[in-house]
Amino acid sequence: MNERHPDGDYSRGAKWFHWLTLPPLALTLLSGLTIRFIADDAKMAFYTVHESLGLLLLVLSAARLSWRLTHRPPQMAPAIPALEQAGANAVHALLYVLLIVQPLLGFLTTNAYGFPQRDATAFLGFINLPTFMDAAPELAGSLHWAHSLTGWLLIPLIAAHIAGVLRHHVGHGDGTLLRML
Ligand code: HEM
Ligand code: HEM
Repeated sequence: MNERHPDGDYSRGAKWFHWLTLPPLALTLLSGLTIRFIADDAKMAFYTVHESLGLLLLVLSAARLSWRLTHRPPQMAPAIPALEQAGANAVHALLYVLLIVQPLLGFLTTNAYGFPQRDATAFLGFINLPTFMDAAPELAGSLHWAHSLTGWLLIPLIAAHIAGVLRHHVGHGDGTLLRML
């Protein structure tokens, strides 16, 4: 706690991880949601972008989670009601879980479809990745469904998260947003 951070402060590492996640997450979500509207000849480029960014996010999120488990966040301001603190913590925990589960489900989906990340859709465009299973269309359908569901779930969670932060910053004028800056 200091003058710039009246309600506590996240570690420098937590801040870097938090803000570094934003651009690739936005691009991965947007490319995932729009891919079905893309003409076949441009689709492969979309898959490369979506899958490569998604896998980079997996690595970033695993590192972020390790950081989180070894660096305690600042305590929430005592003025925030216990129920609201619990709600915010639940949203944070779910976001951490989805940042790991979502790309894993996507990767398994492509594997199960029998579309390994090779050649046209290699990781970052040139690194061929191994596959972990034979093509299994029925499993692929279920994994695709689960990947869609968790992808769509991310949207209201992120919206609730941002709305909560803005409500504190603009509505209450407290230091919640400043903790992450
Ligand atoms: C945090 C990372 C990721 C996010 C937020 C994300 C999000 C999404 C979303 C929102 C969709 C659209 C779902 C729908 O149409 O209902 C989607 C589709 C898809 N994603 Fe991801 N994804 C991520 C990572 C990955 C990864 C790492 C892979 C594969 C290596 C992948 C493979 C796919 C595939 C194959 C589809 C189906 C596209 C189609 O309909 O043709 N995703 N993703
Ligand atoms: C403009 C958008 C965003 C703003 C302004 C913002 C702001 C913040 C702030 C101020 C905190 C600290 C809350 C507290 O002190 O209790 C925080 C924490 C957090 N944010 Fe965001 N955030 C944004 C987007 C996102 C997105 C897209 C994600 C999705 C992964 C995310 C995930 C998290 C997580 C997991 C925490 C908890 C950190 C921890 O306690 O370890 N944020 N955010």
